[in-house]
Amino acid sequence: MVYGFESVKIVEIPTTVDKRGCLSIIEGGLDIPFNIARIYYLWNFNTSTTRGGHAHKELWQGFVAIHGSFRIVLNDGVDSMDYSLNRPDTCLILPPGFWREIFSLSDGSVLLVLASRLYEESDYIRLYAEYVEYIKTRQIGFENNVD
Ligand code: TYD
Repeated sequence: MVYGFESVKIVEIPTTVDKRGCLSIIEGGLDIPFNIARIYYLWNFNTSTTRGGHAHKELWQGFVAIHGSFRIVLNDGVDSMDYSLNRPDTCLILPPGFWREIFSLSDGSVLLVLASRLYEESDYIRLYAEYVEYIKTRQIGFENNVD
């Protein structure tokens, strides 16, 4: 399955609010379109560097700016889109197949990542030149499937 930018979404996380504060809940398969197999978080993120710089073949991810603000730049081999994340009650849903770069825009920021699969190095494409080749073969495969 090939996902385009229209499949990338920023969704609201159901949140209860009262005078004590806020409580946000994400249920896998309900609030986001995949079951959660793994969570990890980026913290102590140096604002003068970037993370990411890779694509995934099968992995779905959800990104939540738990604290602070982030910029996530997605690239599909042709076009790129810029997303800004700065609320703990929204989640960026990222289907597989996009090259991504992640920037922290504030000190002390924490980015929660929800992942549909356990860690598998074989799911990564870490070289952009390889990614461009992967996209070409994947699109040929997709067209063949349609025919
Ligand atoms: P990586 O996904 O490359 O991080 P980033 O894209 O933010 O730079 O992961 C960095 C290192 O951590 C890499 O050696 C793989 C390892 N890692 C795990 O062992 N398990 C995980 O769940 C993740 C996300 C990374």
